[in-house]
Amino acid sequence: MGTRVIVALDVPDAALAASIMDRLAGLARLYKVGSQLFTAAGPEIVRAVRARGAEVFLDLKFHDIPTTVAGAVRSAAALDVALLTIHAAGGREMMSAAVEAAAAGGRDGGRRPKLLAVTVLTSLTAAAAREEAGLARPLPEQVLHLARLAKAAGLEGAVASPQEVRALREALGKSFLLVTPGIRPNWAGRDDQARVLAPREALDAGADYLVVGRPIVAAPDPRAALDRLLAECGS
Ligand code: C5P
Repeated sequence: MGTRVIVALDVPDAALAASIMDRLAGLARLYKVGSQLFTAAGPEIVRAVRARGAEVFLDLKFHDIPTTVAGAVRSAAALDVALLTIHAAGGREMMSAAVEAAAAGGRDGGRRPKLLAVTVLTSLTAAAAREEAGLARPLPEQVLHLARLAKAAGLEGAVASPQEVRALREALGKSFLLVTPGIRPNWAGRDDQARVLAPREALDAGADYLVVGRPIVAAPDPRAALDRLLAECGS
């Protein structure tokens, strides 16, 4: 099995991202580029990751009208990213437009990125979900509802927090990709993550890929930390 660890490049600029990738050369095969780094460094950072032979999980969480999201997905496909996030809360039509755009991007000579749904942000408390976002369903039901909608619209998977991964795996079956952040090996601190799973626990609960940031990129020796984490995953 290939590596199932995605290293989150949660850094403010391209130079820092490059220094992390230098340290992890040959060991990390997939990097997550999120809105902080992408906004600072632009599409060039995706090309820089690809130039090193690694794959990109572009985590920009698109959420807009269908035409706009379709355009953004096409742009991402042209950059040759492997995984891309969109908000399931954008609705079925928005997700279908994204799926079509991903397929078209593949036909245009880029690769067809796999689309992952973001359901409910885990930073939202139950009270905020109800009173501020106006969500009628209890949070776990809302997460399942949106993940099912995403699967029906043709998305390949979802981002699942450690508290959601088992229920989503049971509800959505084997072929739906689940990408799980909030991973902490026993030897790493928790940082600001409230609910965490160890790498092996997350894989056993049904995660396909683990997103890991600070336990690797903020470690005194990032390469040793990733090596240890991969050994724990058995990959
Ligand atoms: O440093 P750490 O391992 O906590 O990084 C995890 C990454 O996953 C960060 O990029 C964070 O934004 C992202 N993430 C998360 N929890 C979620 C969704 C995404 O930690 N529920």
